[in-house]
Amino acid sequence: MSNRKDSVCPVERSGSLDNRFRRWLQNPKKILSPYIKEGMMVLEVGCGPGFFTLDLAQMVGKSGRVVAADLQEGMLQKLREKIKGSEIEQRIILHKCEEDRIGVSGNFDFIFLFYMVHEVPDKKTFFDELSSLLKTNGQIYMVEPPFHVTKKDFEETIKKANLSGLTVVERPKLFPNKTAILKKN
Ligand SMILES: C[S@@+](CC[C@H](N)C(=O)[O-])C[C@H]1O[C@@H](n2cnc3c(N)ncnc32)[C@H](O)[C@@H]1O
Repeated sequence: MSNRKDSVCPVERSGSLDNRFRRWLQNPKKILSPYIKEGMMVLEVGCGPGFFTLDLAQMVGKSGRVVAADLQEGMLQKLREKIKGSEIEQRIILHKCEEDRIGVSGNFDFIFLFYMVHEVPDKKTFFDELSSLLKTNGQIYMVEPPFHVTKKDFEETIKKANLSGLTVVERPKLFPNKTAILKKN
């Protein structure tokens, strides 16, 4: 992935993605509880070191599953170490993506994309694949960061999602981020 090193968040910066200050600012349970129910099949693409993954796994309960997917083995290793021997370990399936393909199979109730879509070069192909993995009434929750993803960039991304048959049904308030809940047409 030599030519992509500049565009993906490096493993060395994973500490900034999981700390107490962030938990206070972006409480995973608060952000996710309106959407997650017990027994759900959840796909989290770009899970990084698992800031949201552990709470997702608690929220889906014993009968649910979370597929935590990332491009970088180093990020998955951080998550693997966090869940090792815990009650939720069995609910989390770690998956290493390819550069141009998520590469999981399944039918998901909820797909979570936090601060990752701007790192994907071919967004149309990415949304096509996500659409094929989403249940008919499933939801995709996309959150993009302020500043380096402009409003214009975000709306361009939404247009690519629209081309893959995904429509915005809600814009959750998560200031100062850009958000969208997408569903299949
Ligand atoms: C800024 S980090 C965010 C991590 C996590 N979502 C969070 O909010 O803590 C972006 C993550 O997306 C991953 N990523 C980037 N492009 C990807 C792709 N095409 N498929 C899967 N993961 C990807 C990176 O490896 C990185 O771990």
